[in-house]
Amino acid sequence: MDKIVIEGGRPLKGTVEISGAKNACLPILAATLLTDEKSVISNIPSLKDMSTMLKILKNLGARVEQKGDEIIVEPKGYKNYIAPYELVSTMRASICVLGPLLAKQRRAEVSYPGGCTIGSRPIDLHLKGIRALGADIKIERGYIVADGKRLHGGSVYLGGHFGSSVLATDNTMMAATLVKGVTVIENAACEPEVVDLADFLVKMGARIKGQGTSRIIIEGVKKLHGAEHSVIPDRIEAGTYMIAAAITKGDIILKHARLEHMVAVVDKLFEAGLEVTKVHGGLRAKYARRIKPMDITTLQYPGFPTDMQAQFMSLMAVTGGISVITEKIYPERFIHISEMNRMGADILLEGPNAIVKGVKHLSGAPVMASDLRASAALVLAGLVAKGRTDVRRIYHLDRGYEKLEAKFSSLGAKIHREKDKQA
Ligand code: EPU
Repeated sequence: MDKIVIEGGRPLKGTVEISGAKNACLPILAATLLTDEKSVISNIPSLKDMSTMLKILKNLGARVEQKGDEIIVEPKGYKNYIAPYELVSTMRASICVLGPLLAKQRRAEVSYPGGCTIGSRPIDLHLKGIRALGADIKIERGYIVADGKRLHGGSVYLGGHFGSSVLATDNTMMAATLVKGVTVIENAACEPEVVDLADFLVKMGARIKGQGTSRIIIEGVKKLHGAEHSVIPDRIEAGTYMIAAAITKGDIILKHARLEHMVAVVDKLFEAGLEVTKVHGGLRAKYARRIKPMDITTLQYPGFPTDMQAQFMSLMAVTGGISVITEKIYPERFIHISEMNRMGADILLEGPNAIVKGVKHLSGAPVMASDLRASAALVLAGLVAKGRTDVRRIYHLDRGYEKLEAKFSSLGAKIHREKDKQA
């Protein structure tokens, strides 16, 4: 296994190219299963999660070809409807093949995804969504076994204990594209990745209205066709580099980043003192004055994203004063706190609230990442810490950050990857 080694203390300056959004690519690749025809998806980042999704598509019988950042999927005549445990267990998001398989094959068997380090992650809303379309669902042998012989349009309120759900909205919307009648999803997730998926489905011939709002209306059609689509830029990757500018007192141009997708993050960083401006083809994040402590609460889009919580915590950890970070999406997504404290941070967890007392400096240390965004947060902490930080178990990072060391190096960071002899 590899680790990332960082010598902190250098201001990052320059331009970084933001890759395509992982969380848009995954459901869009799954959606290619809704037709027999060829689809071409571009701006796909080279990430472990993408190769997992491609394995799932191939396993189902689709022909898959990769050319640089472009993926061609041709599922002509595929008959398989099973997403096996071996593949689903490596990536929770594999559940987004459930909707397309059910709609196209009228049956699906998808391994029931387990929990993960960020929480228990139930799937009741996914099941509620497709049940509302008339699917008969059983849980057998650790699989969701769905029968879609009698699918029809339906109305469903997709709200749970923690609000709306991104992938449950995606699954229900995808399943509804090919059923007779009209489906209305109330309390739909409004994330830009849901909108990007809907835009792709419309290119395939689906009839969808209301994407980006909490009510999505889908009028089923008989058939969808192949389509071409370029995936939106990754707002979480962009936010991570923005925080890198703030934490290292740097000045970074984020090529392709879109302000309209990251208003909550930019608003908080701006309020904290970071200068964020629109520039041609992207955004510029420039350290201009001392960063102030800030309280944040993670919420569904357009609120502050849970996927930026850990990175924001790294920044607050070295910002004088007290900040309170409240996690409302995954109340247990705090495993990074103990690792940050190993680097000299002063963070106390009180229920879903992290109380961060900003310290003058962090001290480099070996740390272990527990999930994707926590790993990114530890890299950010390493970039500002005194001395050497070894971020171990970086397979999490490889799931979601394309060319991380190369991108940070090009901005002036002293960072490299090496074999972890202790792993
Ligand atoms: N939830 C339920 N029941 C369900 C589904 C979700 O109660 O059936 C709850 C979850 O436990 C959570 C909340 O609803 O409290 C929101 O979860 P959501 O379903 O929206 O999460 P997801 O769709 O499984 C996507 C991203 C995550 C991101 C969340 C929240 C993908 C592939 N994943 O997951 O991304 O944190 O939305 O924005 O799109 C990441 O990229 O690091 C990551 C974890």
